[in-house]
Amino acid sequence: MTGRHVQVRRLITADDFRSHVSSLGVELPFDPAPDVAGLSAPFRFGPLHVGNRFAILPMEGWDGTARGGPTDLVRRRWRRFGRSGAKLIWGGEATAVRYDGRANPRQLVLTSETAGGIEGLRDDLVREHRGRFGSDAGLVVGLQLTHSGRWARPDGQPRPRIAYRHPVLDARVGADETSLLTDAELDDLVGDFVRAARLAREIGFDFVDVKCCHGYLGHELLSAHTRPGLYGGDLSGRSRFVCSTVEAIRASTPDLPVGVRLSLFDFAPHDSEGEGGHEAGRFAFGGDGTGAGVDLSEPNALLEALAEAGAVAVCVSAGSPYYCPHVQRPAYFPPSDGYPPPEDPLVGVARLVEAAAAVKARHPRLAVVGSGYSYLQEWLAHVASAVVTRGGVDAVGIGRMALSYPDLPARTSSPGSVSTGDGSAARSAIARRRHATVSSRAAIHSTSTTATCPAGRTSHGRSAARGR
Ligand SMILES: Cc1cc2nc3c(=O)[nH]c(=O)nc-3n(C[C@H](O)[C@H](O)[C@H](O)COP(=O)(O)O)c2cc1C
Repeated sequence: MTGRHVQVRRLITADDFRSHVSSLGVELPFDPAPDVAGLSAPFRFGPLHVGNRFAILPMEGWDGTARGGPTDLVRRRWRRFGRSGAKLIWGGEATAVRYDGRANPRQLVLTSETAGGIEGLRDDLVREHRGRFGSDAGLVVGLQLTHSGRWARPDGQPRPRIAYRHPVLDARVGADETSLLTDAELDDLVGDFVRAARLAREIGFDFVDVKCCHGYLGHELLSAHTRPGLYGGDLSGRSRFVCSTVEAIRASTPDLPVGVRLSLFDFAPHDSEGEGGHEAGRFAFGGDGTGAGVDLSEPNALLEALAEAGAVAVCVSAGSPYYCPHVQRPAYFPPSDGYPPPEDPLVGVARLVEAAAAVKARHPRLAVVGSGYSYLQEWLAHVASAVVTRGGVDAVGIGRMALSYPDLPARTSSPGSVSTGDGSAARSAIARRRHATVSSRAAIHSTSTTATCPAGRTSHGRSAARGR
């Protein structure tokens, strides 16, 4: 139950925070005084240079137009990303490569029809950045490309396109044999990613992210052990889709760097034993087979293959918001239809931080971006600084915190803006933003849920709020 855990905001001093972390039996690097110079240092992103160590993670509001173009709400979000001070914009938000791959009828789709509007998003973001900081030097902006696979709801109803039959998740979306994507359809889909990537380049994006996380198609294929044919079976079959896509984009658009957002490890659907979840542990890519542990052997092999295929960067995430949100985005308060956190959310943060550091150590050529820091709140800058300066990631990705406190990167990478030991400066700035958290959440959820899921739930009793 939530009440069992100590909420991070109750950890008032650095000592409180550190001793609580140590009482949990996990490790989180921590700098009593965040290293502003370290957080402001540039790093290499393939052929590009990123001007500081903050990235804005992709965050969609499912608030685009019915045709997949941006609305004023989308434009406002992207402008705030530009003003945030982060020099890396990892993907902006999930953008489907075709209509049947949308997770929501209001998700962006990149086509020749919407390209102008999506180009405008990037231009507005860059203009805002330049307006606030005087220059866009070192600003790198990517676009996240996706197909939602099992979680596709292009018209508001589940229209799952799956990689394989899953013992628990099929029932949740009403998937059956007819939902299976054929090898020929996957071949075609590689072509759709390539077309979208070329378009992204033409409208000015610096890189594309081939989304391979959170249970969506690219990620689901990685656990397609039982799938016959070219795209399943052993790791080379299971990773064929993402590797071929990266390779094909590189061949078609050689001046466009490619990154991959990867759920580096996965857990079985939470509390699914009664539904057959004991079997589901084997389908958790990067898991140890139990459904609740991590084994990075396969993810490490995949990252080697991706680097070989031409990927230059990985944004590390984990799990899925649909079936194990506590793994993907640690939180004290669960989503409206979620479950109380089964572990102290700091355990989830530490798991993500440790896994990203393991990847950075093993794949020094790849630029590595971390995720899952927002729960740290007042202590985010202290942990971010320690992780970055110890080489645990190249950049710290900011998700939810970028909605509630979009200024955090700018304020944290300028001298005098962070505390020197007791967290007070960062804490007071963040406390001032608490009200903003509520209103920006409301803005995102009102637009995403009223469009298609008036009660916030699908016909299968799962909330659309669980997605993304
Ligand atoms: C409203 C919302 C929308 C999101 N949309 C996306 C998305 O489009 N693509 C993606 O890869 N992750 C998406 N995520 C996940 C975040 O990028 C991030 O991984 C997660 O929130 C954990 O990071 P944090 O602790 O900084 O929030 C979304 C998260 C939220 C809260």
